[in-house]
Order: sequence, then structure tokens, then C-alpha cells
Amino acid sequence: MSTTREQNFEALTERLRPQCEAMVAQYEEKRSALLPIMHAFQEHEGFVSQQAMRWAADFLGLTPAVVESTVSFYSLFFRKPVGKYVLQVCRGLSCTINGAEEIMAAFREKLGIGHLQTTDDGLISYEEVECLAACDRPTCMQVNLEFIYDLTPSAIDDLLAAIRGGTCAVKPMAQTEKPGSTWIVGQDGSVSEGRKSPGATGVSDPNNAGGVGDRSGIIMLDRFVEMDSSFVARTRERLVRDAGAVDAIAHEEVNHAGH
Ligand code: FES
Repeated sequence: MSTTREQNFEALTERLRPQCEAMVAQYEEKRSALLPIMHAFQEHEGFVSQQAMRWAADFLGLTPAVVESTVSFYSLFFRKPVGKYVLQVCRGLSCTINGAEEIMAAFREKLGIGHLQTTDDGLISYEEVECLAACDRPTCMQVNLEFIYDLTPSAIDDLLAAIRGGTCAVKPMAQTEKPGSTWIVGQDGSVSEGRKSPGATGVSDPNNAGGVGDRSGIIMLDRFVEMDSSFVARTRERLVRDAGAVDAIAHEEVNHAGH
């Protein structure tokens, strides 16, 4: 028997299906609709759930790994529930030399949480982000992607009071599930317990598959260093053969030049 979560998700996909089909129709390639589709799910669920990623993979004919790697690349997608208000304070160069440190310290103190954390009541998530491309108006931040410029400590008090009092001009995000203390994937013990997300199924090390520090690459180097003798012998044979061919060509050229 399906759970309420599954029933709600099914109802959501039925509602979003026509919109998703319209998105697909706008592109030459079906897969190009992936980002707008994921945005649509995030708008309705407040985050991009595993079900949403699986549904998008089926709908677009992609593998779960492609969908998950795309979604995890963009920091504007949350793969776990977040607060109704996501506060993103810029810590870029222009903002930093104009007081971002003080602003960030004030947020941390007033919220009682740190970077990438959510308040216990699930209302506010807080993040310190790289340059928001509004360097001429430091210090700046975004609240649910709406800009706030020229921040001061007293502006922070006003903002938090408005959010808590339900009078903030910025619309709250959807919240279909209560958030945990952070939305970082892999911080809830699921990785250490050996559970893999659908996109990582079949990948030997989802955190570093084939990457620079991938242990399998080091093992490969070790193999070359301690090369087994049959391989070395084959390599030598080839070198000898090729060297012979090079000598022959060189000899021929010398003879040709001499006539
Ligand atoms: S450094 Fe803050 S917007 Fe660029």
C-alpha cells in the first residue's frame, strides 16, 4: 500500500506532467528540459527529492546518474528539505572588504546556526555563498533568490523580524517536508552506512569515481611500477622491433642520399 508521501508525489507528477511536456517541446533535445523540470519540482516540493529525480530520468529517457550528477552540480538545487526562507549571504571579495565578516557574524549569532544549517523550527536556512554578481552594492545577500543590497546589522534585525512575524515581502518557499539541521547530502550517516543514492548505484566510489584521488588510478600506477614480467617482455620485443624498423628506414634514406 502506498504511503501519503507517494500518493502526494503521484498527484504532483500528474499536475506537472502537462507543464513538463510543454518544456520538452521547447527544445530540440528532450534532455535539455531537465533543469526547468527540476526547478518546477523544487518550486512545489521545496527541494528536489529522490522521487523527482527518478521521475525526471524516466520521463526524459536519461539514467538516474545523469540526472543526479546534473542536479548535484547546481547549488541552487537542494537535494534535501530546507527552510521556508533560504538566506544566502555573499562572502565574495567586494562584500568582504565592505563588512561581510561582520554581517555573517551577526546572522550566525541571531539565528543560532552556521553555514549550511537550518533553524530548529525549520523556518530559516543559512548559507554563505560566493560572489552574487552585485559587487557594486556590497554587502549583499539573497532571500529565496531575491536580492537585498547595502546590508547593515540593523537591516538584519528588520529582515529576521519580518520573516518571523510573517510580514516579509519575499514569498516563503514551499515546504512539503520538515528539514533536518542541514541539507548537505551524505551528512546523515547514509554514506557511512554504505547506502547509495540511485544515481550512484553501480559506481564503485560515488564520491570520487575516476577522480584525481581515485584509488584505482593509484593502483594502476603501482601496477606499472611493479610491472609483471610478461608485459615488460612484450614491451621490449616491440621496442626492439620498432627500433629495427627505424634503423632500416634511416639506412635506406642514407643510401638514397648517397646516389
Ligand atoms: S563580492 Fe559580493 S556580490 Fe560580488
